[in-house]
Amino acid sequence: MDHFLYRNGQLMAEDVPVTEIAASVGTPCYIYSTATLLRHFQLFEEALQGTDHLVCFAVKSLSNVAVLKVLGDAGAGMDVVSIGEYKRARAAGVAGERIVFSGIGKTRAEMREALEGGIRQFNVESEPEMQALSEVAVSLGKVAPITVRVNPDVDAKTHAKISTGKKEDKFGIPISRAREVYALAASLPGLKVVGIDVHIGSQLTDLEPFRQAYRKVAELTGVLRAEGHEISRLDLGGGLGIPYARDNNAPPLPIEYGAMVREEVGHLGCEIEIEPGRLISGNSGILVSEVIYVKSGEEREFLIVDAAMNDLVRPAMYDAWHDIVPVVEPAAGAEAQAYDVVGPICESGDTFAKARPLPQLAPGALVAFRSAGAYAAVMASEYNSRPLVPEVLVQGHQFAVIRRRPTFDEMINRDTIPEWL
Ligand code: LLP
Repeated sequence: MDHFLYRNGQLMAEDVPVTEIAASVGTPCYIYSTATLLRHFQLFEEALQGTDHLVCFAVKSLSNVAVLKVLGDAGAGMDVVSIGEYKRARAAGVAGERIVFSGIGKTRAEMREALEGGIRQFNVESEPEMQALSEVAVSLGKVAPITVRVNPDVDAKTHAKISTGKKEDKFGIPISRAREVYALAASLPGLKVVGIDVHIGSQLTDLEPFRQAYRKVAELTGVLRAEGHEISRLDLGGGLGIPYARDNNAPPLPIEYGAMVREEVGHLGCEIEIEPGRLISGNSGILVSEVIYVKSGEEREFLIVDAAMNDLVRPAMYDAWHDIVPVVEPAAGAEAQAYDVVGPICESGDTFAKARPLPQLAPGALVAFRSAGAYAAVMASEYNSRPLVPEVLVQGHQFAVIRRRPTFDEMINRDTIPEWL
């Protein structure tokens, strides 16, 4: 359920016609719905109601500071994977004590800044990282709260590029080695073990892999407690999938996920953290684009739009499906035409959809790519010297540009010509 619906023949973003936003900021543009962001955050809150918990939004999925403020003000914590994301969360008014720091390559400089600014915990992913964090904490006279991310070796049954919990993946430490790694943690100065962390992948459409992973974490909790470690917090990661196409099997709901979490770890008396990104931000955004040309190939009709793979890379990178809908609602019974929807970039990979049935569209028509809130604007680049797409936030009847489109001068002036040229 999201707040991008047709009303009077027009696609609306909450109570604002998408055409009005496109006319005001130009295309392509990203539009986010505050109500949809909050609704999906609340679904997790409801799913974990009655447990001691913190829902930490995965900032990597959508990191605009205005979006982070919407969620932070609603009570979300944040999961960050770089000091840049940490700074964004802080700029959105989120206290350091509500921010968890994940990622396999945290640098000493990043550790230092997070420790000085305040941090809820570091999710440590390796022994060398643990050693480095210990040294940094000691040098600052601080104690770093940590969990260790364990790799439970379960198959998340998702796209290979976004699976993270199998033993061949680069993440976490093998769960079989957890005891020795926790023993090391306990022996190092400047560290305080607070719990265990696990994250097995993204866009999971089945609860079973989560269940297997959480069961292993529950077992490990007992083992580590018996060895004298204080395990009071379990970070269960993110990864719950969303429906990208309206007609496919819907992934499990947060309420079902929450029930499973309680079954598997509810008896342990631990504080529960989760790190959802996509489920909160994914269906909260659309990418609006204008048709530039309709080109008839020998066998195919190409809809050439002004958005491209640099703006939304998911189809090119993961063969991802995004629903594409016209901004003006097609008349009932309008004939469909199969289009290859492509961007202007000089690569065949710049294809959003092949033979996609759409109503007949003419140059100047607007289309919206749905489910474009997560891993969309954040993964954009300026390839082909295309400016980053502006972002707009809607709340009820109002909308605001929350990141403007850079000018070409701004883009070009970031480059400098050395004096010897
Ligand atoms: N926690 C950790 C440690 C993660 O690595 C991730 C995502 C999350 C939480 C949030 O997962 P989510 O709830 O959003 O599934 N670019 C890819 C997705 C990459 C996910 C990376 N890690 C895509 O567009 O599908």
